[in-house]
Amino acid sequence: MSYNLLKGKRGIITGALDENSIAWKVAEKANEEGGTFVLTNAPIAMRMGEINKLAEKTGSQIIPADATSVEDLTELFTKSQEILGGKIDFVLHSIGMSVNIRKKIPYTELNYEYYTKGIDVSAFSLHKMLSVAKKLDAINEWGSVVALTYAAAQRVYPFYTDMADIKAMLESITRSFGYHYGIEKKVRINTVSQSPTKTKAGSGIKGFGDFFDYANALSPLGNASAEDCANYCITLFSDLTRMVTMQNLYHDGGYSTTGVSDVLLKKLGIEG
Ligand SMILES: NC(=O)c1ccc[n+]([C@@H]2O[C@H](COP(=O)([O-])OP(=O)(O)OC[C@H]3O[C@@H](n4cnc5c(N)ncnc54)[C@H](O)[C@@H]3O)[C@@H](O)[C@H]2O)c1
Repeated sequence: MSYNLLKGKRGIITGALDENSIAWKVAEKANEEGGTFVLTNAPIAMRMGEINKLAEKTGSQIIPADATSVEDLTELFTKSQEILGGKIDFVLHSIGMSVNIRKKIPYTELNYEYYTKGIDVSAFSLHKMLSVAKKLDAINEWGSVVALTYAAAQRVYPFYTDMADIKAMLESITRSFGYHYGIEKKVRINTVSQSPTKTKAGSGIKGFGDFFDYANALSPLGNASAEDCANYCITLFSDLTRMVTMQNLYHDGGYSTTGVSDVLLKKLGIEG
């Protein structure tokens, strides 16, 4: 069912790699809700070619851009405005990558070159995007930027290694930039802290399957799906949340405020 929440709005959606990607679902929902948008991903991710299917389905154009490159991002925001016919109203930052996680390097032995790369791709990229957009004055007043994050920014999840630190930085950039962009242009910036989700990035984490089941058992509503996450992002892009900014918003079926659940105790075999 569509509510036309994004009717007349123009957007940029990063990070749709394949149909499991959270960004993929956001693009489908944004299309259903009447938004028009440009899809973007790292040039190397284009090689899979999956994104073409999404572009066709949603009537969108694709602009390849490495989110670590200010030059690419400048091109992205400039061309997107030309293609869509005006300033941008919503931006999804759905970008995450850690070579340390990929290579299963423990937190206490992090490779600093990989650590720096992870910070650049997964946190600086948000700052760069916002800085480029602000310089070009590319986002409309009351425009909304959403970046995806994970609860490891607040609490320890040993297997999430350097991404925990990187997500903490992402959330901090959201607050700091949100202040300046809010004051000057009324642009809103929030992070959505999502449940574990079976995607390429998620499944690359050691022990992800077990952790997915653990979180599902602890959350009163169960893990939030990628589709549900997409629905939440759409509300944040819409005019119904105009006064929400600089927040880290949990979208996790109640996981983050649950200490223990009966289901989990039963699973552990220690029910009273
Ligand atoms: N999957 C989960 O369990 C989970 C939970 C909470 C938050 N998140 C976050 O959601 C976001 C999206 O991840 P996902 O789970 O949909 O996985 P995904 O692998 O589908 O998406 C990650 C995207 O980042 C893109 N990317 C990597 N390097 C890039 C670069 N240099 N420039 C531009 N794009 C680049 C990839 O091509 C890919 O499309 C990430 O920020 C991730 O940390 C995921």
